[in-house]
Amino acid sequence: MAVTMKEEQKGIPAHGGKLVQRVLSGQEREFYLNIVKSLKSLKLDRWSLSDLELIAIGGFSPLTGFMGEKDYLRVIEEMRLSDGTLWSIPITLPVSNDDADLYDIGKEIALKGEDGIVYGILRLEEKYYPDKEKEAQLVYGTTDLNHPGVKKLFERGDVYFAGPVYLLNRIDHGQFEDFYFEPAETRKLFADLGWKTIVGFQTRNPVHRAHEYIQKCALESVDGLLLNPLIGETKSDDVPADIRMESYQVILKNYFPKDRARLVIYPAAMRYAGPKEAILHAIVRKNYGCTHFIVGRDHAGVGDYYGTYEAQELISKYEDELEIQILKFEHAFYCTKCGNMATAKTCPHDKSAHVHLSGTKVREKLRNGEDLPKEFSRPEVAEVLRKGYATN
Ligand code: ADX
Repeated sequence: MAVTMKEEQKGIPAHGGKLVQRVLSGQEREFYLNIVKSLKSLKLDRWSLSDLELIAIGGFSPLTGFMGEKDYLRVIEEMRLSDGTLWSIPITLPVSNDDADLYDIGKEIALKGEDGIVYGILRLEEKYYPDKEKEAQLVYGTTDLNHPGVKKLFERGDVYFAGPVYLLNRIDHGQFEDFYFEPAETRKLFADLGWKTIVGFQTRNPVHRAHEYIQKCALESVDGLLLNPLIGETKSDDVPADIRMESYQVILKNYFPKDRARLVIYPAAMRYAGPKEAILHAIVRKNYGCTHFIVGRDHAGVGDYYGTYEAQELISKYEDELEIQILKFEHAFYCTKCGNMATAKTCPHDKSAHVHLSGTKVREKLRNGEDLPKEFSRPEVAEVLRKGYATN
């Protein structure tokens, strides 16, 4: 979908002021497609490919490439880019030691996917060695290899390549293609729908009743909901993206007015970095044109590495600078005595009346072919999950 420069600027300003666009088209693209034939190529893993895409389409505005050492250090130490802009998680391109020697500074590199297609081009400006222990501690708050984000960090290459990138070929999102919109396109979509206030919702799980509850609480005071599930790399025991996508469509169809919500994929990898990832998630949704963003309990958390409200506490300190309004919700549950969804703010009953299932418990039930209680999940969603698990 082609978008004009004027349309790109619709809605809330992008992070850092300007929505980045580094997807080449027309003659420029043809020119670079010719050049890449004679360049050395580098194969990106799924994670780096999604980072390349998000940089190019402006989801990671104001970034225009993979971070150099100056930005990287300031981001991990102070949560800022070297120019002072707030940024919470480094966006880097790790390369193995052996591969790193094959490429020269100042040269361009063709960036390939695992499928061998050249997707982008990088001008290599820097190679540097990160201190991964330090990165893990500062970004994830732990060096424990049982943390999936930390594990991934140590598994990936030991040298970081940096420099500006362009996208030459679009990444095929297969069955999710209809739900793929670039930030400039969601901005146009919101304007066409007449939405002035839009709440973004990040998720890596099927929508359960607590999600629906907080989304609808938000919808009581904003114009529209951007249901924006992360569909990039997740840990192996998370519910697979295809099953989740079906569950999102089912819930929107059955339980939301059709002109109040849109489903759009967020093609990023999940870092599980809790509080710091909540800030990244808010920045990205601002770039997609959201004016509001939901942060509930243990946002982007995993295990018990982060406190239930740690993400809310950290993001609260940066709300003014973020310029996207953060809607914070306490832990929500179904209360059998209230006969409603509620939180401790609205329910006087004790825990014995509350229906709560952990993600682990839900997955266990699904794997065993058991039903999910209707207080936890809408029956249509439960059915999608049951079928999905039965055939996987
Ligand atoms: S996340 O890792 O993508 O954050 P998840 O999909 O579980 O995980 O959560 C999506 C959003 O809903 C996050 O903002 C999270 O804090 C919030 N959330 C999830 N479950 C609840 C709940 N029971 N009560 C309140 N907020 C919740």
